[in-house]
Amino acid sequence: MAKRAIGIDIGGTGIKGALVDVKKGTLLSDRVRTETPAGGRPDDIARVVAELVGQLDGGSRSLPVGICFPAVVQHGRTMSAANISSEWIGLDADGLFERTLGRHVHVVNDADAAGVAEMQFGAAKDQRGLVLMTTLGTGIGTALFINGQLLPNAELGHLEIDGVDYETKASFAAKEREKLSFSDWAVRLQKYYSRLEALFSPDLIIVGGGVSKQHEQFLPLLKLNAKIVPALKRNSAGILGAAALAYNNSED
Ligand code: BGC
Repeated sequence: MAKRAIGIDIGGTGIKGALVDVKKGTLLSDRVRTETPAGGRPDDIARVVAELVGQLDGGSRSLPVGICFPAVVQHGRTMSAANISSEWIGLDADGLFERTLGRHVHVVNDADAAGVAEMQFGAAKDQRGLVLMTTLGTGIGTALFINGQLLPNAELGHLEIDGVDYETKASFAAKEREKLSFSDWAVRLQKYYSRLEALFSPDLIIVGGGVSKQHEQFLPLLKLNAKIVPALKRNSAGILGAAALAYNNSED
């Protein structure tokens, strides 16, 4: 019998989930998806997550649920809110979802979850040294790993460059908003990754987020010392990592 958990990935625009084989790092169901409720408020999101979880486990309430969220998550509490309602700041998110779902829930930062999936099952499998995971989406998510160990809540998407929070310039949302070509966007990505490289000297940089499936259009334009590679688990990485972390947490 596969070791199973449910993974839910909450984003600024959509919430998606699936049933996961947490040992193989594969999806055991189709992905279910719904729009993020307007305003991104806690009770509205919790209700939608409960609906998705219900679709995935048929109401059995027995599987661990891992939820990843686009904010700092410290010991189950959401501590920031860059692209989501400010009502999440300081909220006991573990408690909110546990009450709504009626079971043990583990909430983590979305980039940390995606990074865990890439470390365990994807582009950084067995990679030692310093790995920097980045996700280019509505914001920029980052996760740092040293010899496979996560340093949680890195929040390097908000690095200030040229006097601005650089996620507002180099995220995929910024590319779309400003209608930048891939080569124009790559100029900003070069600036961003060069700064990260100067600060951390990573051994490997992974680029995730939906746009990473078009990596051939922009990764070859970047000149960096570190190897920079596309995520392998792409848009499922958050779901896989959240589920794997929840499963391990439920065994502790
Ligand atoms: C948030 C991070 C999150 C990233 C990707 C940023 O704006 O501050 O916590 O990981 O967006 O969603």
